Amino acid sequence: MPGLGVGRWLACLDSGFRRNDGEMGTWDYGKGTQSDGGPHGLAAPRSADPCEDRRMTLAGGRELLADAERGGYAVPGFNVSNLELALGVLDAAEARRSPVLLQFNPGNLDHFGGVAVAAATARTLADSARVPVAVHLDHGHDLELLRAAARAGFSSLMYDGSIKPLDLNIRETREAAVVALEHGVALEAELGHVGGREPGVVTSESVLTDPSAARRFVEETQVDALAVSVGTAHGLAGTVDLALLRELRAAVRGLPLVLHGGSGVSPRQLRDCVRAGIRKLNVSTEIHAAFARAIAGSGDRDPRPALLEARAAVAAVAGERMDALGSALRA
Ligand code: 13P
Repeated sequence: MPGLGVGRWLACLDSGFRRNDGEMGTWDYGKGTQSDGGPHGLAAPRSADPCEDRRMTLAGGRELLADAERGGYAVPGFNVSNLELALGVLDAAEARRSPVLLQFNPGNLDHFGGVAVAAATARTLADSARVPVAVHLDHGHDLELLRAAARAGFSSLMYDGSIKPLDLNIRETREAAVVALEHGVALEAELGHVGGREPGVVTSESVLTDPSAARRFVEETQVDALAVSVGTAHGLAGTVDLALLRELRAAVRGLPLVLHGGSGVSPRQLRDCVRAGIRKLNVSTEIHAAFARAIAGSGDRDPRPALLEARAAVAAVAGERMDALGSALRA
């Protein structure tokens, strides 16, 4: 990130989450994006319309969040473990004209062949997609992985210290914020804890997010988005506590909120969540399950017909989520 040394960034964190105008007011994404310095307001605004040429380049995570904030919708982030899952997600995004994040947790990265292969593949797909695609690290538990992902070209990172005590989570998320800033990419963090089971992710019992802790957390870390625990769980259907979600959104003064555990949440609940301030939804189990069903019982000679069916099944599920989130026709 040009023009901002790490020392100055930490000083900026220490002074609270001041906006471009130096106030402690609400998050105003109209003033900046990932590529123009964002809320830190350090560089010239993004000028070119990325839709002039329908082929996109890799999108920044902060840009997608900013667009979702302005448009009042949520952008979907799909965890992908192989090429056909990624292709199915992109088929849906292009058919719906929806922005999207291709995302990888540590388990997804292992399946994909490691961080370098995942980054190169996802970035290549993003470059040839006709919609904005960001490449996101989901549930990064250590700073080395965040650094490796950023160096490999991920445009958005999540640091997850949610099973740690609040002070430690804040301290480590601040260090993650420095990594994100050094590479000019977005940072998502989690407070409270979304439980359930997800391969490759360290989880424990769910803990709902406390609004006053959330306010302190975002003031002291200045993350771009906060994943909150409001009733969902990884891999399971959950019911969202909408009153808590609204309280959290007010507590963090309009910072984009992220809902993990998106599988099984009804379209109606998702629409309510978007109205209450969810700007990114994570979905994994549903598309993996659609994929698994489609390849079950496939023949023993040529996997390609079954893989094509799996890709189509993933696209169908992903497209339904886009409709519920309001991200369709936004790209
Ligand atoms: P689901 O597996 O419930 O879709 O949750 C995915 C998720 O939150 C990834 O971070």
